[in-house]
Amino acid sequence: MLSLILAISTLLTSWQFRQEPSEQMPNVDTAWHQVSIPHDWAISGPFDRANDLQEVIVVQNGEKEPTWKTGRSGGLPWMGKGHYRTRVAVDSTRFYTLVFDGAMSHADVYVNGEEMVYWPYGYNTFDCYILPQLITGDSVDIDVFLENKPQQSRWYPGAGLYRNVHLVESDRIHIPTFGVLVRTPKVNARQATVSIEIDLQDGVESTSAEAAGVEVVTDILYDGHRMAVIRGQQGEAEINLPHVWSPESPHLYIAHTRVLRGEKVVDEKETRFGIRDISYTPEKGFQLNGLTRKFKGVCNHHDLGPLGAAIHKDALRHQIVMLKNMGCDAIRTSHNMPAPELVELCDEMGMMMMIEPFDVWNHGKTDNDYSVEFNEWWRWDITNMVKQYRNNACVMLWSSGNEVWNQVLPDGIAIVTELQELFHQLDPTRPVTNGMDQAMHVIHNGFGAAVELPGFNYRTGRYIEGYEHLPQKMILGSETASTVSSRGVYKIPAVLKDFATYDDHQSSGYDLEYCPWSGLPEQDFQLQDDYTWTLGQFVWTGFDYLGEPSPYDTDAWPSHSSYFGIIDLASLPKDRYWLYRSQWNEYDYTLHVLPHWNWQEGDRVPVFCYTNYPSAELLVNGKSYGKLRHATAKETQRLAKGKRLKGVSAMPKVAKFDVPEWGSAPRPELLPRYRLMWFDVPFKQGKIEVVAYDEKGQVAARKEIRTAGAPHHIEVEWANREENPEELCYYTVKVVDREGNVCPHAANLIQYDGDGFVATANGDAACLDSFVEPQMHAFAGMCTFIIRKGSRGFFTSEGLLPAGLQD
Ligand code: GAL
Repeated sequence: MLSLILAISTLLTSWQFRQEPSEQMPNVDTAWHQVSIPHDWAISGPFDRANDLQEVIVVQNGEKEPTWKTGRSGGLPWMGKGHYRTRVAVDSTRFYTLVFDGAMSHADVYVNGEEMVYWPYGYNTFDCYILPQLITGDSVDIDVFLENKPQQSRWYPGAGLYRNVHLVESDRIHIPTFGVLVRTPKVNARQATVSIEIDLQDGVESTSAEAAGVEVVTDILYDGHRMAVIRGQQGEAEINLPHVWSPESPHLYIAHTRVLRGEKVVDEKETRFGIRDISYTPEKGFQLNGLTRKFKGVCNHHDLGPLGAAIHKDALRHQIVMLKNMGCDAIRTSHNMPAPELVELCDEMGMMMMIEPFDVWNHGKTDNDYSVEFNEWWRWDITNMVKQYRNNACVMLWSSGNEVWNQVLPDGIAIVTELQELFHQLDPTRPVTNGMDQAMHVIHNGFGAAVELPGFNYRTGRYIEGYEHLPQKMILGSETASTVSSRGVYKIPAVLKDFATYDDHQSSGYDLEYCPWSGLPEQDFQLQDDYTWTLGQFVWTGFDYLGEPSPYDTDAWPSHSSYFGIIDLASLPKDRYWLYRSQWNEYDYTLHVLPHWNWQEGDRVPVFCYTNYPSAELLVNGKSYGKLRHATAKETQRLAKGKRLKGVSAMPKVAKFDVPEWGSAPRPELLPRYRLMWFDVPFKQGKIEVVAYDEKGQVAARKEIRTAGAPHHIEVEWANREENPEELCYYTVKVVDREGNVCPHAANLIQYDGDGFVATANGDAACLDSFVEPQMHAFAGMCTFIIRKGSRGFFTSEGLLPAGLQD
């Protein structure tokens, strides 16, 4: 038996908080409030068009003139100054380190009135000591001053101590914050080599085991059993028949390091790692443990919808479960460092990661973004990020930046080269990509050639040119699609459109609308399916996020959150979820039909089916509208020439497009390969049904949607019940008719009457209901309430029968 006496790391959750007047927010409430960390001071609102109203030219979207961008950073009051303070008990014979997982932003940390550290970038982890000379009694006071500037961000950044703060108590001789490095330089099915490097510190100075008179011993553990022992600050061990890490089997090992003075353990640390082999080559593409695979990834912003930027492990777990069910196997942390909890969960649950620190280098996209800090801080920021996550099995690659303007400037090549050198100095085991949107320039100006692993954001029309000209002979879809849609809202007729806007501030759920710079999922499916040199893709985005409400971002208040998500802000899947699932989830069948079936008599309604069955038939009240199968790659070429093919969907109609030089032309011919579409179905009250057929032509599955009657009662589903949440339960609340059919137009105000309320959302990007009041309008018949585990309560709405929380 090994005795584990872990070093003492405490979460500092209990703080006092107040806002301080600033130029942008002169009239804030300056009283002290008791708060619990993680805490986002802005998420309680209220929403206001005037919050961070930006008059800007969004160059990367092709804009030439400045326009008023409303809701661009969420329409919430995240700007201004905040002050947090707490008092912690200390013992003058011990040594203390404070670790901040992220503080938004420009954090200035004081202990007993002395400044310990300043860290401007709000997303990174940083630490500081409590200097021994400051410990004169049995407690110390910690003060954290934060400041968020207007135009600091082009999405919702959150505000405050929104991630965890740790107090680490140790001996004077100890392993510092990022002091353990574990690598697996050689891996095959029979054996793996594990190598470690351990840093030691004597108070605030770095030291060695010899100088400190200590011994360092690391046990390599799997499932509680010791597999090997490594003695010294550096060393290697062989592991026989290693359990390799993959998204499908995320096996993890632990390096348990002890610092010993004689028999006495003076410090110890557990570092989780995985054994896996990764490679990227033009011949075989991306390989994990010797098998070629393509990233089926999504980009995500850091906010958690109605919870704001405040980190919650249950919310992250729920996101990962939904994404994995869709067949997604990778997340890109766009465009900043993730919370450590996300990386831990990705390790445990099997989700690969691309970690990206920056949205800009030294050329800004908004007045006060990170470009102001970049020259002085990039080394520090990259160093902390790579040291923090280089031991994590799930991290497959780094990104040095997103759509940085330097890609077309003379200094771009020098900067990308310098950044990559630093990444490799800290971590020679993973490649570095860069999300490039200026394909037509970077293919020829040397920048694309200088990026270790070229990543294209959109520009599907330039992939082949990129492959032909770039020496790496591989292209990663670092950011793809940016299709826009609103859950449960359908615009007829279904037409492929660019930047479509409507009076109700919604985008059509037929998944046919996008922005001038972006495209439809099919353009990326095709590139990934047909070319061996594509490495996979990261869809913009897995989840809707606060801010960037394109196509309603220009003077289009009250839109204030994104329309790009495959899953909406209330964590409810849009139809597109099943389109991706039908292509990505290789283990389960998908059969999904849209739209709802509540129309006017006489309406001609398009009906789409997303499935991985080879074919399906549409029935309306039992009458067949024909059987359709997926077109082959070859057949799409004939469709492109205007041929009609029997048994295959027709192409959608295309609205007039002004395709910019750098954009990609619509490719309607690709859709029949991935979707089944009946464009002209006369509406008759009753039901639509899709019947799926397998390869042998046998009926394999059915799915139906019925016309819903009048709203009758509320139905509640505990969405993350199986995930066994520690604290936060997600409840999907539905307005249904007498038979239990969701009422697709219902917008009833739902109230929660009970304890444990945390937050609520409905996924409507233009709805200004507060996230933090226990009531929410249903949107397309549904909304989500997040309630603390073990609470009692029920949901009511005028005229509807209520429903209680489920146990
Ligand atoms: C990209 C950008 C993302 C987001 C997206 C919206 O160009 O990298 O951050 O703005 O467009 O489509």
